[in-house]
Amino acid sequence: MSNARTRAARARAMDFCARFGLRVPILQAPMASASPVALGVAVANGGGMAGLGALQMSPAEIAGWAQGFRAGSNGAFQINLWAPDPSPLRDAAREEAARAALARLGPEPPPLGEGPFLPDFAAQCAAVLEARPPVVSTIMGLWEPEFIAELKARGILWICNATTLAEARAAEAAGADAVIAQGAEAGGHRGSFTPEAAEAQLIGLFALIPRFADALSVPVIAAGGIMDGRGIAAALTLGASAVQLGTAYLRCPETGLAPAWADGLAQAAPEDTVLTRAFSGRLARGIANDATRAFEAVPPAPYPLQRVLTTPMRAEAGRANDLSRMQAWAGQGAAMARAEPAAELTRRLWAEAEALLP
Ligand SMILES: Cc1cc2nc3c(=O)[nH]c(=O)nc-3n(C[C@H](O)[C@H](O)[C@H](O)COP(=O)(O)O)c2cc1C
Repeated sequence: MSNARTRAARARAMDFCARFGLRVPILQAPMASASPVALGVAVANGGGMAGLGALQMSPAEIAGWAQGFRAGSNGAFQINLWAPDPSPLRDAAREEAARAALARLGPEPPPLGEGPFLPDFAAQCAAVLEARPPVVSTIMGLWEPEFIAELKARGILWICNATTLAEARAAEAAGADAVIAQGAEAGGHRGSFTPEAAEAQLIGLFALIPRFADALSVPVIAAGGIMDGRGIAAALTLGASAVQLGTAYLRCPETGLAPAWADGLAQAAPEDTVLTRAFSGRLARGIANDATRAFEAVPPAPYPLQRVLTTPMRAEAGRANDLSRMQAWAGQGAAMARAEPAAELTRRLWAEAEALLP
């Protein structure tokens, strides 16, 4: 019985590869501000799927990334956008408290004004359609049905991030071609459809994969804390058809991470990462530092206001290579991230996993 199940794991993964145009069932997570063309090209040329986190990009930047990618690889890639939140509730006292906490860390946060606080979402969606990626992905919720219809009409596959079975079922019902099971171990933002529910919906990946796999008819992509062939083989054995890795790719030379962040990953025990709203107002996992501690007592402003308020601090921390104020996203497996070229890493991860699968 167990043998039959593990054999099925390899067959499931190969079916996924055939459908999504891959040689290995590994997706590089689309990481907003950490998914340069060079990383995507290397992953795709290693047989995996490249990912662009386009959250903060203009239409021209999205087009430029897709063009750059296609100049370097004819492999598969996904472009990712966050489903937009409703406009944040304004609360002057709370914004002032967040501002004061940030001023103590330095530099002075900017005035918030009336916005807009994010790039034009409709223009970003149009740029994504124009770029015609093989795959588009969503996190934080679903697309409008009209946009899903536009994707389908162009033959673009849609994958949707989910943190609970209810979210996964909603994604499947809306037409998702695969669902990403994002475990609580994951680096970066939690994809909870309801932002306020994120702290209460922290489910480990070992519980999430079989729960999704037993209930869904579309393939499950496992994400969160997967750092090597053991993790990949385990995820596939539990019912996933593929895996999505973010933190594992952060120390690749192509990613071009700030040195302090890359070193911080190498040193970070799982308990050195925390879930925090300090940087954006949305819950996310990163390396604990002065900025995350400053918001243990002070409530951050809601997303995306907190992101606007922290912009100067994040920029200065990057310039000064100062991990104490850096938004250093990291999954719980951070210390296992290898500083290795991404194409080689992709091939090696799959070779390690294959050796463990019958
Ligand atoms: C630096 C960083 C940025 C991320 N940005 C995004 C994003 O823009 N969109 C998204 O869907 N997921 C994003 N994620 C989450 C990943 O899709 C994925 O869930 C996570 O990396 C998996 O856990 P791992 O980091 O332990 O591999 C990000 C993750 C990291 C580490």
